[in-house]
Amino acid sequence: MKESPWNGPPAGARSEEAITSFRAKVWEHYRTAARPMPWRSNTDPYWILVSEIMLQQTQVPRVLNHFPRFVERFPSLRDLSEASLFAVVETWQGLGYNRRARFLHQTAGIIVREHDGVLPDEPDTLVTFPGIGRNTAGSIVAFAYNRPVVFIETNIRRAVLHEFFPDEQDVPDARVMPVVKHSLDVERPREWYWAFMDYGAFVKSVVENPNRRSREYQRQAPFRESNREARGAILRVLTDRGMVAAEEVPSFTGLSAERISRALSTLVRDGLVRRDDDGKLRIGD
Ligand code: ADE
Repeated sequence: MKESPWNGPPAGARSEEAITSFRAKVWEHYRTAARPMPWRSNTDPYWILVSEIMLQQTQVPRVLNHFPRFVERFPSLRDLSEASLFAVVETWQGLGYNRRARFLHQTAGIIVREHDGVLPDEPDTLVTFPGIGRNTAGSIVAFAYNRPVVFIETNIRRAVLHEFFPDEQDVPDARVMPVVKHSLDVERPREWYWAFMDYGAFVKSVVENPNRRSREYQRQAPFRESNREARGAILRVLTDRGMVAAEEVPSFTGLSAERISRALSTLVRDGLVRRDDDGKLRIGD
């Protein structure tokens, strides 16, 4: 097929045939090795919202462990919106990056109050909600509503870098995006993106992570000794005990007063912990 600068394959995808053969490879892998996940068997928009927020920074196996408990405790968007932040943070425990628990709780409230409890199907609306960026908005709309939107996610980026930019360094998403757009199966976007992600996950198991060659690549910092670790420890104490005097937290967690103080101020800033007039700390905003 003739290449045109307007509708031909993007730079990086050398030819229309390269796109066609990539698609075939992704579908073939999916046919034999699709990963079962609860939010793939049941694409209830609420399940999609919860799973996509969990999957932003947490790997699939860990999300598979925690997701069932979460939707059992909060079976609907309305249940989640009516729950206390305490209950949501408690149930989020083990997934890490706890800011997301509050964002999800707030998002549920906004959807119930301002959208009649119906998850919007427009990325432009979803990006106005806490904790939802462009790519998460795209994945939610593709999976919940089977709409052919274009978005990038870590597995997708990895698959594209591996197949279309094998020898390049520092590749920006602006170059990955046209390949995603051009290869998208507009007849069945939901399944296509599942297949795309599964293929990207598979690539990680066979080659050195191509995402190291992405301009957007950021390694997750080690957990031990991190502020994240201290935040998690504080939230654990507060969900176990309900409320605690700030001075007691170092002994309950075994962490230094200095680390606790630093972590605590970020938790208060993020609206996860409240310091009441009596000097006690509680989960809450
Ligand atoms: N399947 C559906 N959403 C996914 C995601 N964000 N990552 C991996 N697999 C998925």
